[in-house]
Amino acid sequence: MMSNTMPQTEFPIPSGVFAQTVTLVRHYTDRLFKFRITRPASLRFRSGEFVMIGLPNAQKPVFRAYSVASPSWDDELEFYSIKVPDGPLTEHLQKIRAGDVVLMRKKPTGTLVNDALLPGKRLYMFSTGTGIAPFASLIRDPETYEKFEQVILTHTCRTRDELTYGHEVVATLRDDPLVGGFAAQLTHDCATTRQDSPVRGRITERIASGALFSDLGVPPIDPQTDRAMICGSMAMLRDTKKAMEGFGLREGTNNRPATFVVERAFVG
Ligand code: A2P
Repeated sequence: MMSNTMPQTEFPIPSGVFAQTVTLVRHYTDRLFKFRITRPASLRFRSGEFVMIGLPNAQKPVFRAYSVASPSWDDELEFYSIKVPDGPLTEHLQKIRAGDVVLMRKKPTGTLVNDALLPGKRLYMFSTGTGIAPFASLIRDPETYEKFEQVILTHTCRTRDELTYGHEVVATLRDDPLVGGFAAQLTHDCATTRQDSPVRGRITERIASGALFSDLGVPPIDPQTDRAMICGSMAMLRDTKKAMEGFGLREGTNNRPATFVVERAFVG
């Protein structure tokens, strides 16, 4: 549902922000939930970008960066969030319900975009936890499959139930009339680190041991053919980035595309 109408709120809506209505909230675990909001008719974004999200609960609301998890052709916006105990935003955001108002700053931005990567054969999307959000958008963008023959989405979480959101997104992609035809190009690799599941271990360990590549039936990462996007906690970014550099990949930006890009999964 596109919307331009300004909902009523207790505090004035700051200038330069959209006030949007929550359409759906779903809780996955006591740490994770998703929410959907109406999309401002004027909002344009590239798959993989993030926006600043806040609540109209103060004169000066707290904003946090959230990757848009829905594809750029969707008429609503979806976000996937952690619940941080006492987190200045998520402590309140986790209580929202359909019909409530969420604030969004007007300018989307970010480096996890197809434009920041040189063309290649295979694209790895390395995610942990809520770091899957930008990839939930990118795997539903036809441009991703036009640019890369094979897309490998890795999602590593502590427990099996934290993988549910990713399974759902991949299932909706397979059934989607616009992008379902690209599903054969996508490999979804799931692993857990604190509970048994078919694949266990941190992504960095599976890269270092080579188990990732043998599990997937692909050769090790090669800067001639392979590209990577990384999204997770600061520690995961640091270690996965080091692994990519070890394979000879170089970090790119919007202005200077290269062979891998990095973005923090923001929390608070
Ligand atoms: P672990 O369970 O061994 O800490 P979180 O929910 O804390 O962000 O963690 C999400 C996933 O990221 C977990 O599976 C966690 O593994 C993993 N992880 C944490 N730190 C790193 C790191 N430095 N490199 C790779 N994976 C990491």
